[in-house]
Amino acid sequence: MEVPTAQAGAQTGVFPAVRHRRLRRSEGIRRLVREAVPRPSQLVLPMFAVEGVGVRQPVDALPGVARLSPDLLVEEARTAYEAGIGGVLLFGVTDQKDAVASSAHAEDGVVQQAVRALRVAVPDLVVITDVCLCAYTDHGHCGLLDDDGDVANDPSLEVLARTAVSHADAGADVVAPSDMMDGRVAAIRQALDDAGHEGVAIMSYSAKYASAFYGPFREAAGSAPGHGDRRGYQMDPPNAREAVREVREDVAEGADMVMVKPAATYLDVIRDVRAATDLPLAAYHVSGEYAMIHAAAERGWLDARRAMMETLTAIVRAGADIVITYAAVDAARWIEEER
Ligand code: PBG
Repeated sequence: MEVPTAQAGAQTGVFPAVRHRRLRRSEGIRRLVREAVPRPSQLVLPMFAVEGVGVRQPVDALPGVARLSPDLLVEEARTAYEAGIGGVLLFGVTDQKDAVASSAHAEDGVVQQAVRALRVAVPDLVVITDVCLCAYTDHGHCGLLDDDGDVANDPSLEVLARTAVSHADAGADVVAPSDMMDGRVAAIRQALDDAGHEGVAIMSYSAKYASAFYGPFREAAGSAPGHGDRRGYQMDPPNAREAVREVREDVAEGADMVMVKPAATYLDVIRDVRAATDLPLAAYHVSGEYAMIHAAAERGWLDARRAMMETLTAIVRAGADIVITYAAVDAARWIEEER
């Protein structure tokens, strides 16, 4: 065996003393030194609830995702729970739309029905509800409109707060406001507490950008705005510092968890927000981000499983504690297989 020379000693810290490939030689060693590995319990599955019984409407642009009536939604949620995921995030889809989003907070609204059914059928599943008005307004905006057709911030708060309370009344564990009105976390916290729901948590979509990647979701939820766009309330994609301001505001207003959305194109924002708060941080791998992986895979251009896992891993590596993804159930199974 060769004795290391003074020369080689002086080289410690660089090649050939250092060989990075030593820790990549076998799956056993790679596993030993692996850093960011998503856990099934970190994954949250978005689900779309529709009225009726036995209704299953696959969403074209989201392979594996369907709008489901409460009876079928409960079955899929049970399967997801058994796969070990951390929770579900519920959206409502309805034809019952008006200018003031009355069906958003109706006691027998579609989300409220689905939550009640889940509470009975899968009692230990964490149920998170999306709180927004866009799927319930005839104009498709996330808040109420003023006389000029602009989204009116302060009048929207009361409707959002009523919606959150109605979800909590139905049994939601967590409410997740995604509307991007200013002051909604405080308004919702106050309304929940006044209604005796001080135990219901708020996961705020704190840094939600006006993104092109929501396209397939709007097809699924029937929530595209009828006029204009959402740039007057969702964030401008170039702004990262502003995300930290949004997060600090939501924390001050009483958010229990914060979110960055989208995820894969905003990894820097996830990293910045991670450094700015100790609260649990969620990141939403949104519909378009999911759809493009599947679209490429369908053409044989990449491997959907590997591309999806690499993406979810990147989101966790950037600092997310919770990843909201349409691939939650598949990913939970893949993670178990690879353990
Ligand atoms: C509702 C809402 C949207 C998404 C989540 N909540 C759409 C939007 O803001 O237009 C997008 C989710 C996705 O694309 O997967 N405001």
